[in-house]
Amino acid sequence: MSEVDAITAKQEGAPRLAFETWDSSSPQPRPAILNMPEYHPPLAGRDRALRLDFNENTHAPSPRVREALGKLSLESFTVYPERAPVEAIVAKHLRLQPEQVLLTNAVDEAIHIVCFTFLEQGDECLFAVPSFFMYDVNTLAMGAKAVRIQADETLSFPYERLLAAITPKTKLIILCSPNNPTGTTITREQIHTIAQAAPHAVIMVDEAYYHFFGETVMDDLCAEPEREAGPSTPLRSGRDDKPKELRNDMIEGSDHALTPENGATFYPRHPERSTAESKDLLSSTQATAVEFLPQNMIVARTFSKAYGLANLRVGLLAGPTHLMQHMRKACSPYNVNGVALAAVAASIDDTEYIDWYVDQIKTGRARIEKALNNMRVPHWPSHANFVLMHIGPRHKELVEAMRARGVLLRDRSSDPGLLGCVRITVGVEDQVDTGIAALRDSLAAMGWTPAEVNKPEQQPKETPDYE
Ligand SMILES: Cc1ncc(COP(=O)(O)O)c(C=O)c1O
Repeated sequence: MSEVDAITAKQEGAPRLAFETWDSSSPQPRPAILNMPEYHPPLAGRDRALRLDFNENTHAPSPRVREALGKLSLESFTVYPERAPVEAIVAKHLRLQPEQVLLTNAVDEAIHIVCFTFLEQGDECLFAVPSFFMYDVNTLAMGAKAVRIQADETLSFPYERLLAAITPKTKLIILCSPNNPTGTTITREQIHTIAQAAPHAVIMVDEAYYHFFGETVMDDLCAEPEREAGPSTPLRSGRDDKPKELRNDMIEGSDHALTPENGATFYPRHPERSTAESKDLLSSTQATAVEFLPQNMIVARTFSKAYGLANLRVGLLAGPTHLMQHMRKACSPYNVNGVALAAVAASIDDTEYIDWYVDQIKTGRARIEKALNNMRVPHWPSHANFVLMHIGPRHKELVEAMRARGVLLRDRSSDPGLLGCVRITVGVEDQVDTGIAALRDSLAAMGWTPAEVNKPEQQPKETPDYE
């Protein structure tokens, strides 16, 4: 009897599931997938507790969302979703051209699309750690090498070391600002310098937490004029691409400053979106000044945080059209469902709601930081909707004590460099009250003291449990 017959006979006798017949001759995934780390965020039972663990909006989306969803007909569910009209609305909101925006199944898919479009075996993807685990997952899934630049104890962005790690093999650099789980940021100058130091790479800036920080490089993605050069030369610096030289070149007034004459590509900033800084640059004495804008940079944003649409899975990629066209090709035409599209169209311009929610978070964040100071819990200043604290070896005990009080926190201890760290999401006012009270109560019940923070603990070996 052949192996297949034997399996069939077994199945006829007693129903068996396909995986029970697995052996080494079964189809195998690509080696990159086999070697990928698994990602199992602890999602069970979250609806029964105060969710200060995943950094979503903890309240509700704009009231305009309910109104828009109420207008959806049952028939509308039968139609394949059409992304383009909503992309045009989003582009208008961001003051970009519609071709510059691609809506995605949240930033998780955006990261996947960027890696799928630009990375292959032998390429290097550069990012700082600790950061969002999906950068690892998607880089490794493409068979590319993840080059992780470890932050020091300050957890600030390891700018110089990341610049120094750029090589000819660097194909993608992911910059997360504000960064999850540290809450630290990267300056616009640093992002621009990195983009110029790696003209052969795509720079993806993950701005998932943009609203709680307020600074962005989205404005630098102005609509580009006709390109003189083809898409294969995203940045024409007209010189060799050693990071150091380029950095020196960018010093204002330098003899080597990049100019249109020496081959740099210049585009005017978007006239309506100048930051204070660019207003300085475009001062009256330089009325016709133009600023160098990186043409190898894309920005990712999500609707899961400030907009409160995490369950609908919607986000976006924005960038110069010569990069967007490739990612659009690599993406399913139906990746964002119609309910999510309707919710985005209805709420994207509801600045009243967004301003209210962001104000709640900024106020709550300051209150949590003050409470941590009072409890003498070391923590890092945050520009996002969460705060990372250093508890020491009893991090798990704290998470359990909080859970017992109905409040979920996230243990970040297995992230690189974050042994003993726990993250708390900032909610709206009453949620912050509850979170602080539970934290005070838990630490008191544990008899926790700041002296414990630096007690030794073995770094756990298990796969980090990022989100
Ligand atoms: C830095 C960062 N990027 C992206 C995401 C993914 O967001 P989403 O897939 O919900 O858009 C998260 C989620 O927490 C995040 O922290």
